[in-house]
Amino acid sequence: MSAPAFDLQSHSLHSDGELSAARVVEHAAVAGVKLLALSDHDTVDGVDEALASGALHGVRVVPATEISAVDLPYEDLHVLGYGIDHRSRLLNERLLDARADRERRADAMATRLRELGFAVDRGPIEARKAAGKPVGRPHLAAAVLAHPANADRLAAEGHADVSSFIPAYLIQGKPGYVARTHPTVEDAIAWIHEAAGVAVWAHPFWDIGDERQVLEAIGRYRAAGLDGVEVFYATHTEDQALLLADRCAELGLLTTGSSDYHGPGHRLFSCFRAFDLYGREPNLGPITHGTLAAPVRGMDGLCVWLTGLSGSGKSTIGRLAAGQLRDLGHRVEVLDGDDVRQNLSADLGFSREDRDKNVNRLAWVSDLLSRNGVITFVAAVSPFRQPREAARARMGKRFLEVYVKASVEECERRDVKGLYRRARSGQIESFTGVSDPYEEPRSPELLIDTEQEAAEQSAAKLVALVEERLAQAAPVGATA
Ligand code: ADX
Repeated sequence: MSAPAFDLQSHSLHSDGELSAARVVEHAAVAGVKLLALSDHDTVDGVDEALASGALHGVRVVPATEISAVDLPYEDLHVLGYGIDHRSRLLNERLLDARADRERRADAMATRLRELGFAVDRGPIEARKAAGKPVGRPHLAAAVLAHPANADRLAAEGHADVSSFIPAYLIQGKPGYVARTHPTVEDAIAWIHEAAGVAVWAHPFWDIGDERQVLEAIGRYRAAGLDGVEVFYATHTEDQALLLADRCAELGLLTTGSSDYHGPGHRLFSCFRAFDLYGREPNLGPITHGTLAAPVRGMDGLCVWLTGLSGSGKSTIGRLAAGQLRDLGHRVEVLDGDDVRQNLSADLGFSREDRDKNVNRLAWVSDLLSRNGVITFVAAVSPFRQPREAARARMGKRFLEVYVKASVEECERRDVKGLYRRARSGQIESFTGVSDPYEEPRSPELLIDTEQEAAEQSAAKLVALVEERLAQAAPVGATA
């Protein structure tokens, strides 16, 4: 599935960007972005404004945040949370604490600078705090540079601006610096999962130069539940991006990308879509669909997608299995092609385009149901691979494809609804298996040959598959 024009990081005035959240989205729309994440540092305060602006400008906005995290010796790694429930009180409390920690560190660094003999102008710092704006090292450095009492010393040491002062005093290992201590990368991943989002490690090579260390970290973070890596990034080289893409493909991790837009006047990150895919397909998984948050925690359901020819037995075995699972106390729904076509898809026929629409609608509904704890059986011919794969990408581990197999000859012999006869006589056009293609699944989770076994046997296999998957259910949010 090819991804829409996406850019999965941008920053507004809510953190260190230059524009309001609404303006960020407007600029993205002008640049042709169709799928955008507003990923302000340690806050989701701009998300609602961005969602509203996205609706206005035809941009799908993914609620997101970029959490600063520690993994010693690295004190400032970034973990992106996508599709989070940005209204989660717990998440907001955690982010507030992370921001407060930044302020505590800023105060501690100001104290250190004074101990080192610098005068630190309080005015602009207190003004930022009063306005609820974050105080960072650039602001501390500016406060030192602006104070006349420091002029001689700064001149003697050769510090004329912030970008010379910071590396001399305010980075790891320098005397004015105070280290971050939490959250760890593992904490950040857990926070994101608890807010029903997916966790992606932002721009690994921006923070760590060494390839081996990056790969080693990916392995450890994956063990902690990481869902993906920002492979395609404004400053990543081709070699770096391809290395990451290959590793993520091996590990089954999502691969995202961004220009890290900070505003039109930003020194480095001023253009949307300024990153290269180097000929690779990204793997955005559920992020493609924008809002993922379904704040029912700890009870993920499943989507059991039954595909096969008309008359192969999908509905029969789906309903049987559904009944048995209901008797076991599960919440279950069956979305049957014939039903759906009389209701949700009453406007559609059987052209390729209409079938794809039908299958996409089924995927949309089964995603909503399954992420709210319902075991959802879809029984639809769904003859084309691409939309089935899109459904898989949407639902990740919640999706199970079952090929309900019977030959055209056998289905025609059964001809439960008399449709094959009508298709043969030309009364029905484009009939799957007769005058329209059926693309078999390449690697379904289960193949059921209904020519070889009775419906009860097949249903028992479905029930077993569901129970097995529920038993090994992934932590909430780890849907990819
Ligand atoms: S799908 O292709 O869009 O997935 P869906 O499962 O909803 O199809 O509907 C298929 C059902 O519609 C079949 O079981 C059959 O009863 C009926 N049908 C009517 N016309 C066709 C057709 N041309 N091809 C396949 N099924 C058809």
